[in-house]
Amino acid sequence: MIHVKSEREIELMREPCRVVKDTLAFVGTKIQAGMTTKELDVLIERFIRSEGAYPSCLGYGGFPASACISVNDMVVHGIPDDRVIREGDIVSVDLCAYKNGYHGDACRTFCIGKVAPEVEKLVKVTEECFFKGIEGLKAGTPVYDIGYRVQKHAESFGYGVIRSYTGHGIGKEMHEDPNVPNYGKLGTGTRLRAGTVICVEPMIALGGWQVKLLPDGWGAVTVDGKPAAHYENTLVVREDGVEILTL
Ligand code: MF3
Ligand code: CO
Repeated sequence: MIHVKSEREIELMREPCRVVKDTLAFVGTKIQAGMTTKELDVLIERFIRSEGAYPSCLGYGGFPASACISVNDMVVHGIPDDRVIREGDIVSVDLCAYKNGYHGDACRTFCIGKVAPEVEKLVKVTEECFFKGIEGLKAGTPVYDIGYRVQKHAESFGYGVIRSYTGHGIGKEMHEDPNVPNYGKLGTGTRLRAGTVICVEPMIALGGWQVKLLPDGWGAVTVDGKPAAHYENTLVVREDGVEILTL
């Protein structure tokens, strides 16, 4: 069941979404070659808490850290550890904050120093996929239109669209209905009503879309070992368009 938010609830959601946005901007100033993903996670946790918010990922289904940090061929849900971030890596930082009784959720993929041009392009196109995906999105749009547009853009570059992870509704819970896949058929799926808050999050691979779960049960990597990028925002569907809360 999709829980459509009242204007009051949307007001309350602005703050956790603002914290997520500011945390990602902070990550942009701190992330660099030589640090471990765990060191970055510690900084993220401190920042989120200093904003009076809780890092929603911490403890979620037993997840042991405050952010999902996924390097290169890791697509999503990387557990921060002793891995050292190196020049030429791409690092997806996906984080959620809980405040005012609501969650916010966003992800950016950071390029560390000089990155191979084809990988840099993947990161840029993945961000473009988000904006293509929400093109024309407003009250009444069928949810698979988003995925259709994401997929069309990604595949026009020969990229693989990750199937096994999707965007989602968000609110009092980090994951609510509806599911928001990054693939689909135009004109199909639930029509989104005004006041629906969703996370649109293209996950796009330089090679094939197949992924496998790591033994830790969280991290997912591409089967062919090619890099993948991820870009996500929390947004409200409005009568005449969308309002992005984490930008
Ligand atoms: N933002 C991530 C998602 O929507 C959060 C995953 S929960 C965690 O999938 F426990 F893995 F952190
Ligand atoms: Co999400």
